Amino acid sequence: MKLAGANIVVTGASSGIGEAAAKALAARGAHVALLARTYEALERIAREIGAAGGSAFVYPVDLGDADATARVAEAIVREHGCPDVLINNAGAGRWLYADETRPSDAAAMMALPYFAAFNLTAALLPCMLARRSGTVVNVTSPASFSAWPGATGYTAARWAMRGFTQALRADLHGSGVRAMLAVLGETASAYWQNNPGAAERLPRLRAFFPRLRPQDAAAALVRGLERDSSTVIAPFQLRFALTLHSIWQWPMDRLLIATGHRRSKDLSAAQPPKPAPGGPPLQT
Ligand SMILES: NC(=O)c1ccc[n+]([C@@H]2O[C@H](COP(=O)([O-])OP(=O)(O)OC[C@H]3O[C@@H](n4cnc5c(N)ncnc54)[C@H](OP(=O)(O)O)[C@@H]3O)[C@@H](O)[C@H]2O)c1
Repeated sequence: MKLAGANIVVTGASSGIGEAAAKALAARGAHVALLARTYEALERIAREIGAAGGSAFVYPVDLGDADATARVAEAIVREHGCPDVLINNAGAGRWLYADETRPSDAAAMMALPYFAAFNLTAALLPCMLARRSGTVVNVTSPASFSAWPGATGYTAARWAMRGFTQALRADLHGSGVRAMLAVLGETASAYWQNNPGAAERLPRLRAFFPRLRPQDAAAALVRGLERDSSTVIAPFQLRFALTLHSIWQWPMDRLLIATGHRRSKDLSAAQPPKPAPGGPPLQT
């Protein structure tokens, strides 16, 4: 697709991959709507895009709130027309074993990214379907394909993102509207500070994959949109690994477990999850 002049909605645009994607898309002439909760960060990014000659609009919203999500979708269509592209990128999620996870954390991990992506897509689809064009991009991680120890709720939510994308493709067949899955490897962003404990639980297999910068992830998204790809995978080595996984699923899953986090020594000290508000709040 041609990005110049396209109306593109980017969620999670206040930092990391979303910020980099919004800037890269604006640099190609797209009009970008920036969605996240932190107004000041969105305003700063919109100013930076404007100073570089691009056009950006700010929509502060908590995408964990379904009513607020519906309202923001309505405002975007009313004020800027039907988007050509929706990038569902906003996300968070602690890496916890199931027995470490409080019910509120489990719900929050599904709220973002999955329900947020589902609800915003559902709200913006009617105008895309009426126009018979549009692309919905769902950003996820390799945890959408496999699993490693110590990230149960996170993994389930990422599988939901892949299932959602696959189901959308079935729904949208022949409609002129497309769904793209963007699978990104480890990316250096605030994600790792916002979700404490996650970095320590990355499988040692990660050593084979270069860490992306947010700009690299954004460049992969831009390329995928320009080429109308149905799936974007970055870095390149991850594409190779996911191909191997599709052929040899069992050995690859075992390898992830074998190189993943072990807590055998901690188990005797394991405590049932404390009811909220104990423990650090989940960032959603
Ligand atoms: N970093 C990685 O290694 C990696 C790898 C693969 C996939 N991903 C995925 O890529 C996406 C972006 O990650 P990132 O690395 O860029 O992380 P990040 O820097 O922490 O950015 C997360 C974004 O989501 C927004 N967000 C969080 N909760 C929200 C809510 N309730 N409502 C609206 N916006 C919300 C945050 O903005 P506010 O806090 O201002 O709301 C922020 O803009 C996530 O879905 C993540 O799972 C990340």
